[in-house]
Amino acid sequence: MTIYFIGAGPGDPELITVKGQRLIRTCPVILYAGSLVPEQVLDGHRAHSVVNTAELDLDAIVALLQQAHAKGEDVARVHSGGPSLYGAIGEQIRRLNMLGIPYEIVPGVTATAACAATLGRELTLPGISQTVILTRYATKTSMPEGEALADLARHRATMAIHLGVRHIERIVADLTPHYGADCPVAVVFRASWPDEERVTGTLEDIAGKVQASGMERTALILVGTVLDAADFADSTLYAPEETLPTITKPPI
Ligand SMILES: C[S@@+](CC[C@H](N)C(=O)[O-])C[C@H]1O[C@@H](n2cnc3c(N)ncnc32)[C@H](O)[C@@H]1O
Repeated sequence: MTIYFIGAGPGDPELITVKGQRLIRTCPVILYAGSLVPEQVLDGHRAHSVVNTAELDLDAIVALLQQAHAKGEDVARVHSGGPSLYGAIGEQIRRLNMLGIPYEIVPGVTATAACAATLGRELTLPGISQTVILTRYATKTSMPEGEALADLARHRATMAIHLGVRHIERIVADLTPHYGADCPVAVVFRASWPDEERVTGTLEDIAGKVQASGMERTALILVGTVLDAADFADSTLYAPEETLPTITKPPI
């Protein structure tokens, strides 16, 4: 038996991987993180036990995983987005390792990828930014030394800030000295869900726009000049000198 940590994707039920969907449809036990996992990703399951873990603590979740293990039943443990980002799977894996229970991670489409997609933008452009910093705004979980927003902002890389929309004013204050007040910002609420909303602006005006929109949670803040850049070099990937010569078969 195996515990499969499965990324459900950002919201659109079609954005789960084929492997994740197959496992959800075949595992006899499903545990899903209810708040951000759309119910439709569970469509077609044949599990005898389906538990929303939104209200359970770690001990209760591990107890359910242990029960399944004792019965030799595979578990689909479904998390939102990609489970390896802010998914709290690390602590579950640590317990599974102590208990000798095997597990596997099935990656998923992250909120960052979904937001870039709905904005129709590439997050890495030649000469503009070749780095994306995925981070969060620190409230309950403190940030390790050197990872405060102002420290990260010094790189002026494209930034994706999770769990921060309620603190947009403070985020703007931390970022503006490094990115400049005219730096573009996009805030996307529930990217890829039917009620998706987005607000775009600059560090100068985004806080007011977000407050006016009423967005308070499940929104990602994307910051960086890539968001409106038009003047950038073509990549070398498709440059004529980089294309491989056509191989023609020698006559037999
Ligand atoms: C606990 S984290 C989970 C991240 C997720 N594991 C991922 O890979 O994207 C939750 C935060 O991710 C962001 N988020 C998750 N899903 C989102 C979506 N569909 N649209 C916008 N932001 C989203 C929000 O910042 C939200 O507060």
